Amino acid sequence: MTRFVKASQEQGFALDRRQVLATGIAAGVAGMVGAVPAMAQAASPYALPSLPYAPAALEPHIDAQTMQIHHGKHHQAYVTNLNNALADYGQLQKLSLTELLATLPELPETVRTAVRNNGGGHANHSMFWSIMGPGAGGAPTGAVAKAIDGSFGGFDAFKKAFNEAGTKQFGSGWVFVTLGADGKLVIQARPNQDTPLMDGKPVLMGNDVWEHAYYLKYQNRRADYLAAWWNLVNWQAVNDRLARITKGETI
Ligand SMILES: [Fe+2]
Repeated sequence: MTRFVKASQEQGFALDRRQVLATGIAAGVAGMVGAVPAMAQAASPYALPSLPYAPAALEPHIDAQTMQIHHGKHHQAYVTNLNNALADYGQLQKLSLTELLATLPELPETVRTAVRNNGGGHANHSMFWSIMGPGAGGAPTGAVAKAIDGSFGGFDAFKKAFNEAGTKQFGSGWVFVTLGADGKLVIQARPNQDTPLMDGKPVLMGNDVWEHAYYLKYQNRRADYLAAWWNLVNWQAVNDRLARITKGETI
């Protein structure tokens, strides 16, 4: 029996978020549910983050109209759909997005697919906006540059492997950089809105290879979009993410 139930089935109790983290996903939870009195249910816990730059700021590599539709329509839809899916699940509303995605196999079937698609979409796009910027690009810097050199032998080889993974991803998806057990960087393409967060792995950076990310400007030329995208990567932001991951955060 799932430990996550509709609000109407909670019987006056809720799951404490820190207990989820401390106890672990696979741990027995029979004693957890019922440990904490129910709190008021948050109406819409997830919100669309503002773009950290103007929609036209990434021109000419990503055009303003694509940015407006991508952020204001596509990402907003993932947020709205995620909130709608969890409307009756007060316990789940208390989990962070990362926790929600890491507990995917344990979620009730009624919401699992919606969380996978829309929770993944919210996490992926929030990361995506944050690692791009105007006047960015160029060679990686700092600890990220060292990690790339140590894992791939240099930036050119890293870019080539990343672009190939993005080009070969069939249909909609993402190409991510996560960290392996040995601490080395790993390039991983995932379909749809799946993310390494669903495996409990952090996301250092990633590029969106859904057609909605590039089709207005690049049409079917995904490889050209992937090549141009490097002009937008904000290496300082990627270094900030690596520092958080190194501290043990799964972001
Ligand atoms: Fe997208």
